[in-house]
Amino acid sequence: MKIVKRSWAEPFKIKVIEHLKMTSKEDRLKAIKEAGYNTFLLKSQDVYIDLLTDSGTNAMSDYQWAGMMLGDEAYAGSKNYYYLEDNVKKYYGFKYLVPTHQGRGAEHLVSQILIKKGDYIPGNMYFTTTRLHQELAGGTFVDVICDEAHNPDDTSPFKGNIDLNKLETLIKEVGPKKIPYVSVAGPVNMAGGQPISMQNIRDVKKLCDSYGVKIWLDATRAVENCYFVKMREKGYEKKTIAEILKEMCSYFEGIWVSAKKDLLVNIGGFMATRNKKVFEETRNLVVVYEGLHTYGGLAGRDLEAMARGIEEMVNFDYLHSRIGQIEYFGNLLLKAKIPIVKPIGGHAVFLNARKFLSHIPQDQFPAQTLCAELYLDSGVRSMERGIVSAGRDKVTGEHKFPKLELVRLTFPRRVYTQAHLDVTFESVAEVYNRRKKIKGLKMIYEPKYLRFFQARFVPIK
Ligand code: F0G
Repeated sequence: MKIVKRSWAEPFKIKVIEHLKMTSKEDRLKAIKEAGYNTFLLKSQDVYIDLLTDSGTNAMSDYQWAGMMLGDEAYAGSKNYYYLEDNVKKYYGFKYLVPTHQGRGAEHLVSQILIKKGDYIPGNMYFTTTRLHQELAGGTFVDVICDEAHNPDDTSPFKGNIDLNKLETLIKEVGPKKIPYVSVAGPVNMAGGQPISMQNIRDVKKLCDSYGVKIWLDATRAVENCYFVKMREKGYEKKTIAEILKEMCSYFEGIWVSAKKDLLVNIGGFMATRNKKVFEETRNLVVVYEGLHTYGGLAGRDLEAMARGIEEMVNFDYLHSRIGQIEYFGNLLLKAKIPIVKPIGGHAVFLNARKFLSHIPQDQFPAQTLCAELYLDSGVRSMERGIVSAGRDKVTGEHKFPKLELVRLTFPRRVYTQAHLDVTFESVAEVYNRRKKIKGLKMIYEPKYLRFFQARFVPIK
């Protein structure tokens, strides 16, 4: 046999395993009913393959676990904090660091400090918690992502890019003084894990400099963005991920990060900046909401695991296997002609529920319905990223009707095998085959904030 292309595999092996519960269809029907047809309300014990999120669900390495034993659990000045500070400086390039318990802790502090009532915050598509904190601080979020991002079938390589015209129009309309910063994310979670190009970041920076507007980065999955820059953008083929990350961050005044993603840990977050004044205000405010500025709501051991995770996350072979796994799964779906967001993203494959369940109107929650059906079929847990996540309009109180009505199958880092992906694919295909028989849902309980986490539904008869 002539081998045309060599396969690749993970640059690590499994040392510890966790048993999974195998459930029957009856078990799953009972569980999803009890959970109000919301996968966020399922008990994880009742889930077989958990693709709800890549957040905090990572498998840590032996190097990180060994570091956990070196936790310096001092209230103030823990040595693990200084190690993390060194690595944030070394890899992200920011002098000042404030740890927080997770990403939204950092979003809260940065929003409270930078945003005044009546401000506008342009960004490349919203993220749920990011936008909420910007709005709770009195701002209005404005989506300035390129149009391609709203079209699941568009195969542009950098669908996370900002539309410079949209951005400049907003700056002229409201005036640069009303824009505390541009909220840039790379890659863009809600758009399907689509990356932003380095060129676009440079262009945004140049435009914003000309108006005196700052730019901040949600660097939660920044290294995954850097992987796409290396693979897709001219001039970056030979650069290391660490070099690309350093360049990417160099354009921003500061970043906020949910360490539960890129940093390969189970909990943690931080903000980092080169602006001393913003740092000092954040360091002051963090003691009100999170904890002292050298632990920010985390244990010393968590800070150590984060610092070590930074060293591992920039490894190209690791990223290649991580994103390669997602590509493998996405390609199975593409071959079966099951509608997904293209190109395949960095942390997840997104099913296009609008097409998948095209007979279900958006206000009967097609993506929510699909999540429930997938769980019922096989115990695979996914997440709604459509009308339920989008929430209601602040002014009219009506549902926001987003163009993207998606189900996210998100891959924890270093956790599942290729066989798990095969089983997941078979389950999606099974549900796809009987899609015409599936009916929508009715919402019977709706919480005020971030409703997708706790809303409850019943099937429409
Ligand atoms: N920014 C982005 C881009 C995120 O994806 C998340 C979390 C946050 C900020 C907030 O961080 O959860 O640590 O408070 N995303 C998770 C997800 C919840 O499933 O996509 P956090």
